[in-house]
Amino acid sequence: MLRKDFLWGGAVTAHQSEGGYNEGGKVPAVCDLTTTGEFSDFKDGIDTYHRYKEDIALFAEMGFKMYRFSIAWTRIFPQGDESEPNEAGLKFYEDLIDECLKYNIEPLITISHYEVPFHLTQKWNSWTDRRMIDCFLNFCRAIFTRYKGKVKYWLTFNEINILLHFEGKGGKQVAFESLHHQMVASAKAVIAAHEIDENISVGCMIAGYCSYPYTCDPKDVLANYKAFQDKFGYCADTMVRGYYPVYASRLWKQNNVTLNITKDDEEALKAGKADFLAYSYYMSNVVTTHQNEGESLDGAGTSENLKNPYLKASDWGWQIDPLGLRWSLNWFYDRFELPMMIVENGFGAYDKKEADGTVDDQYRIDYLRSHIEAMKDAVDYDGVDLLGYTMWSPIDIVSASTGEYDKRYGFIYVDMDDQGHGDLHRSRKDSFYWYKKVIASN
Ligand code: BG6
Repeated sequence: MLRKDFLWGGAVTAHQSEGGYNEGGKVPAVCDLTTTGEFSDFKDGIDTYHRYKEDIALFAEMGFKMYRFSIAWTRIFPQGDESEPNEAGLKFYEDLIDECLKYNIEPLITISHYEVPFHLTQKWNSWTDRRMIDCFLNFCRAIFTRYKGKVKYWLTFNEINILLHFEGKGGKQVAFESLHHQMVASAKAVIAAHEIDENISVGCMIAGYCSYPYTCDPKDVLANYKAFQDKFGYCADTMVRGYYPVYASRLWKQNNVTLNITKDDEEALKAGKADFLAYSYYMSNVVTTHQNEGESLDGAGTSENLKNPYLKASDWGWQIDPLGLRWSLNWFYDRFELPMMIVENGFGAYDKKEADGTVDDQYRIDYLRSHIEAMKDAVDYDGVDLLGYTMWSPIDIVSASTGEYDKRYGFIYVDMDDQGHGDLHRSRKDSFYWYKKVIASN
């Protein structure tokens, strides 16, 4: 059985939903200036900056117990390095938090979700510079203090391990360095949070998925294990245990990386261990060492992103694998025995809205139902301690990876498309009524 107080809900980010990118003293963050090719940038979102009350009322109608959202750093410290916070920004989130509490919805706040004040990227090239740590901490202290007594659950960085999945301009050295600074900043934020309010729980959040060896060739099995350690274990191990895992040295060596890890960093990691582990889960993957075997999903011919012949995929090629969710819950719980939360899980699809405003999204219900069942099995049969589940995203928002409006995840349809047609009107899809029943029956 799921716990009686299981935290059912949904999750969004500031930049994919708020809009109002230059209102209330906010200036653009890096994400506001990013275009994703032919589709939208993140300046407009779905206008939750002005419409959050209407949206939260709909979440409450579904029976939400938790709402995960992020705070735009640039609303609180527009440049990122000011000493005093912007009152209008603090007030905006305070009103949003109060609106959640009005319906007994517990806020779960992500402090940094793919966004950095543009000014800091100009000044220091963002997280490559360790002076970012103090700016981030200043931001954390301001919001922990202001929302003390109102917000119990926090996440420091969204999908912190994602930096290792991509090869940025500066190569691996820069990626590992930036990540080190972020993990130290996260640990220091945990310490600060506990100093300010001992009832606060701060989680680390990683992009979690499951991956399989393509064959039973021991080489494939080992390669898959190493890929899993490197992409998923690395951050969770460090942030939960409070020190780098033993395989980190192998990884640094392989990537020709040298890190400047100070004594102060080590002490912070140790003293600022995460209170719980949160992760996103959308799909699984396949790894092989065999040349020309398996069909590559990204077309790049890599050996770590193969099609799984046993699984179906979404229109964006994300392979649907509910059992992988159970597998990953087991893997993490065996490792840490720490309470966990699934803070993202959802199905991006093209929806067809009927003339009467309804949407038949049975495919979304199928996806979510099978994942929720697998999650429940992990609790019932495997003994995993799970605190909550915030699906992605309860309302249609702009896609993070493609900028599309038409890649929809919501229970609530938002009238806006990739061509910019629509008035942002909200309406209930079939899945809205289904999730309401799921929550009511726990
Ligand atoms: C997660 C991110 O990785 O995936 C979200 O934390 C994102 O920000 C979600 O929206 C779904 O991805 P996408 O690209 O379909 O929006």
